[in-house]
Amino acid sequence: MTYSQLLAGAAILCAVASAVPAPAPTAKPQPVADAQQPQVTPFRVQNEPTRVLFEPTTTLAIYRRDNILSKIESGVGGVLSKLGIPNFFQDFPTGDKVQSSLGIDDAQLAALPTQVLNLPPYGNWTDQGWQIRFHGNVYKQPNTNLTTLNKLANIFVPGDFNQLQPSEQDQARNLTAEIFVVQQANVSVTMHLEPAPPSGNQTGGVTAPGGSQDITLPYNTTAEGDFDNFTPIKMNGLLPGNQTAEIQKLNVYATGATLGNATAYLVPPTGYTVISDIDDILRVTKIYQPKEGLLNSFARPFASWLNMPDIYANWSNTVPNLHFHYLTTTPEQVTRNYMDYIFKTYPLGSFDTRPLNFSDIAATLSIRKFLLTKIFETFPQRKFILVADTSNSDVMKDYPLMATTYPNQVQCIFLRNTSATDDDKFPYDTSGFKGINQTKYMFFIQPDDLMNLNIAGGNCYNSTIKQNVTFGLQDELLGIHGSSASTLATSSSSALIAFIVAALFLIT
Ligand SMILES: *[C@@H]1O[C@H](CO)[C@@H](O)[C@H](O)[C@H]1NC(C)=O
Ligand SMILES: *[C@@H]1O[C@H](CO)[C@@H](O)[C@H](O)[C@H]1NC(C)=O
Ligand SMILES: *[C@@H]1O[C@H](CO)[C@@H](O)[C@H](O)[C@H]1NC(C)=O
Ligand SMILES: *[C@@H]1O[C@H](CO)[C@@H](O)[C@H](O)[C@H]1NC(C)=O
Ligand SMILES: *[C@@H]1O[C@H](CO)[C@@H](O)[C@H](O)[C@H]1NC(C)=O
Ligand SMILES: *[C@@H]1O[C@H](CO)[C@@H](O)[C@H](O)[C@H]1NC(C)=O
Ligand SMILES: *[C@@H]1O[C@H](CO)[C@@H](O)[C@H](O)[C@H]1NC(C)=O
Ligand SMILES: *[C@@H]1O[C@H](CO)[C@@H](O)[C@H](O)[C@H]1NC(C)=O
Ligand SMILES: *[C@@H]1O[C@H](CO)[C@@H](O)[C@H](O)[C@H]1NC(C)=O
Ligand SMILES: *[C@@H]1O[C@H](CO)[C@@H](O)[C@H](O)[C@H]1NC(C)=O
Ligand SMILES: *[C@@H]1O[C@H](CO)[C@@H](O)[C@H](O)[C@H]1NC(C)=O
Ligand SMILES: *[C@@H]1O[C@H](CO)[C@@H](O)[C@H](O)[C@H]1NC(C)=O
Repeated sequence: MTYSQLLAGAAILCAVASAVPAPAPTAKPQPVADAQQPQVTPFRVQNEPTRVLFEPTTTLAIYRRDNILSKIESGVGGVLSKLGIPNFFQDFPTGDKVQSSLGIDDAQLAALPTQVLNLPPYGNWTDQGWQIRFHGNVYKQPNTNLTTLNKLANIFVPGDFNQLQPSEQDQARNLTAEIFVVQQANVSVTMHLEPAPPSGNQTGGVTAPGGSQDITLPYNTTAEGDFDNFTPIKMNGLLPGNQTAEIQKLNVYATGATLGNATAYLVPPTGYTVISDIDDILRVTKIYQPKEGLLNSFARPFASWLNMPDIYANWSNTVPNLHFHYLTTTPEQVTRNYMDYIFKTYPLGSFDTRPLNFSDIAATLSIRKFLLTKIFETFPQRKFILVADTSNSDVMKDYPLMATTYPNQVQCIFLRNTSATDDDKFPYDTSGFKGINQTKYMFFIQPDDLMNLNIAGGNCYNSTIKQNVTFGLQDELLGIHGSSASTLATSSSSALIAFIVAALFLIT
């Protein structure tokens, strides 16, 4: 789960809390800081140390005295006060604000090379041939000096930046530099395509037998520098999608940019696609422990969650022509590390991240649903295996929603229950699974639970794994599971929900 997902979840919990007529005694509305968005009642625990703060927008800033907000409030180097408060892993500073805060003028900016974040795209087969959904961002990266970068990086790491190991400081600086970039609006993007050479032991597609060409995308970048369009391409030797089951790989270079390389996956109309979240399912993030979540994202090298890489490798080797699509709602600015890590550790595949231009609350809260719907509608005959963990409130809503909206397209839903193994006290809501056949989904505890399942044969449930599903709010750590939880879960009393929400604030 990502921070932004935590924010989204928080906003939902917050909405629940505000719907309750008599708030729990510890809750007290706070003044509204930013009136741009539709408001939900702000919610904060009074007692110090205050650790979780719900802001009126989708913002959940996680803070303690030594943590992020206090640093932001004191305005590191005066830079942040100029930028306004960048919400934690959301609403990162953009464009002009970065430029003015770093004191770069237009001429200096113009002299910088153009960079392209080229997210590995998927393509589908249509009556007109192949088309590729190119998506990413065009930006310039200021040459920020070490002193400034250290100050800025200090915002994102809990505790004292200087206490980190040199390699951790280096990673934090690198990520910070990726956040403090100037996006390029209204520019044209041209891609050069050519067959992707075989990539050693990595699975996830074959070298395309042709397809070399240059192609200019039909629209210029948005105000935030984003591009995201389906663009038809020429065959030039590619295999038609209805004559092959294999996934053809093309390398895609954004022309005129350094850093703009990616691989595109031409995915035939039928077959299986794994859609996988990354945080706390493929790698250890521990977002439900904010300090750990920050260190694991900004400072420490990415580490795999137990033997998940073996499970994916096995799926890739046993399900023919399996397509992998990594869908994380982490903001696109910080996804290079994710891609580097995934492609070293897991099968190759296409990527989706949170684009920049999702600034209104409705779209922000539904970004995962938006991206899932897009891939489901792009491959109406493919079957999907959806994988994530229970700490994403949007996953808990959107995965079962896909199973009911597109019943013939969801093959399996696999959800790691983080509260069964980790210090995760955020309850998860299983109500969306009511009415879905147990053979289609499984809550699991460790990667081994996924071994030896006949996925293509339609059995996604390992009957040795006790499920405890209550079709309501649950959390192993809070003891809300199994039969003991059923009274809580089946009660529609909002006061009870409010109690759970309030309890969370005290515990967290
Ligand atoms: C493959 O698709 C193309 C384009 O949609 C179509 O013209 C052709 O008839 C199809 N071939 C087969 C064998 O279905
Ligand atoms: C680093 O950059 C900042 C902001 O542009 C500037 O104020 C400062 O003097 C620079 N420091 C060094 C050591 O160059
Ligand atoms: C930081 O970025 C530099 C330049 O791209 C790279 O050489 C270095 O390995 C990166 N360090 C870490 C810890 O990611
Ligand atoms: C984009 O740039 C072109 C050429 O400079 C200009 O004509 C057009 O108005 C610009 N569009 C927007 C939306 O700024
Ligand atoms: C797109 O951007 C290019 C510059 O990259 C500009 O010349 C062109 O006019 C723009 N097109 C539109 C439709 O705004
Ligand atoms: C591929 O091989 C390299 C070393 O030969 C190894 O480090 C890496 O983990 C392997 N990757 C996969 C996906 O098996
Ligand atoms: C991107 O690909 C081009 C063409 O193969 C290559 O010249 C360039 O070095 C690559 N850039 C990176 C950063 O890998
Ligand atoms: C290909 O993807 C586009 C965009 O999602 C979709 O509108 C179209 O129906 C898809 N084509 C086929 C043949 O499935
Ligand atoms: C669930 O699915 C299995 C396998 O498709 C089927 O045998 C079983 O009857 C279904 N159960 C219900 C309650 O529909
Ligand atoms: C089910 O889970 C257990 C425990 O992790 C594992 O040993 C077993 O291989 C899994 N698969 C099946 C089909 O039982
Ligand atoms: C991989 O698949 C084979 C065959 O189904 C099975 O024997 C083996 O246990 C699997 N390993 C993992 C890690 O799932
Ligand atoms: C189900 O509950 C048991 C305790 O009764 C627990 O050990 C197990 O982890 C739970 N299973 C899941 C999938 O959460």
